[in-house]
Amino acid sequence: MRRIGVGLLGLGTVGTGVCQALKNNRDVIVKRTETLLEIESILVRNPEKKRLVEEVQDRITTDFEQVLRADIQVVVEAIGGLDPARTYVEKALEAGCHVVTANKELIAKHGAELEWLARRRGVRLLFEASVGGGIPVLGTVQHLLKSNRIHRITGILNGTTNYILTRMEEEEAPFERVLADAQEKGYAEADPAADVEGFDVAYKLAILGRLVFEAEVPVSRIPRRGIREITPEQLRLCRRLGYTIKLLAQGEQYREEGPVSLQVGPALLPLSHPLAPVKGVYNAVHLEADVVQDVTLIGQGAGEQPTASAVVEDLCNLFRMPAAPGLSPSRDSFLLPSDDDGGPRFV
Ligand code: NDP
Ligand code: HSE
Repeated sequence: MRRIGVGLLGLGTVGTGVCQALKNNRDVIVKRTETLLEIESILVRNPEKKRLVEEVQDRITTDFEQVLRADIQVVVEAIGGLDPARTYVEKALEAGCHVVTANKELIAKHGAELEWLARRRGVRLLFEASVGGGIPVLGTVQHLLKSNRIHRITGILNGTTNYILTRMEEEEAPFERVLADAQEKGYAEADPAADVEGFDVAYKLAILGRLVFEAEVPVSRIPRRGIREITPEQLRLCRRLGYTIKLLAQGEQYREEGPVSLQVGPALLPLSHPLAPVKGVYNAVHLEADVVQDVTLIGQGAGEQPTASAVVEDLCNLFRMPAAPGLSPSRDSFLLPSDDDGGPRFV
């Protein structure tokens, strides 16, 4: 069995979930990957804060260089935002560490250059948790792309806003109160304007657009509207007419090499639409493709445990055992160096 040291950046909602999942599912992970993943060092901003996972208290630091000096082969970035997350990810890749991140803003805005850096250093950059929380969206899409042309994506990609719209619709709860509740549950971004005004969905759609349509669309070019103008009265009226309102990410490309359209905004969905019953913190992605026809993925799109699941999946994918004969290989990450291209560094 290998022992792999992990440096964790951030011990908030996601970082805490990762610590817990690595501890609680240690036996499963060891069995499936023959790898013991040990958190060696944890970077936080405030060392005085009381932590939910007490057993890691002795590994907490406020010095990023100390994390890099620890005996680690992987860095998990769960700080969020661009600065200093981007610098830390760059430094980790430069130092020859694999990086797993949940940071959609970072990947949407700088994914291409970080991927290039990872490739140059022969390490991997994985970010399943950046889109759809616990739903394995990127892995599934990558799997489908082996045999399909996906021409349309329709998604509910933000747990906070779907939670707000659901509670406004079902209980006529006031917007600000439900938003505060979503923050308390750990669903919302540090600045919840990113959720409510649709930026978070635009980041996720940019990441998906890059994977599905091979289109490098700057986030600033994605038309975007949020949910601030939606009221409980509008939601009630829509429902009476057989509709619901969802904050949707929509992406289309009807011809290979043809124009790509990406947009984010509230949309009326007939109650018969596959995404209409998706409620609360749940996210969903509906994919339309030429061979499989259509596939809908649904699951928890935010929160400590679902997001930790995606991060730990990435960690395991770095070190998974080769597929057993007769089974198809499990998911690879996209945007990765292939074996004949310098190759990921397996430890
Ligand atoms: P939190 O705000 O809960 O946690 C952030 C953590 O990062 C805290 O531990 C904080 O330290 C630490 N931190 C922040 N700034 C710095 C800094 N400058 N130096 C050192 N440490 C710092 O965020 P989340 O866990 O919710 O989110 C983390 C990332 O995961 C974000 O990119 C987010 O978009 C993404 N994500 C979040 C999901 C969720 O459901 N919450 C789901 C999917 C992705 P301290 O504790 O000392 O304040
Ligand atoms: N704030 C995000 C959401 C976290 O509510 O969906 C998951 O990306």
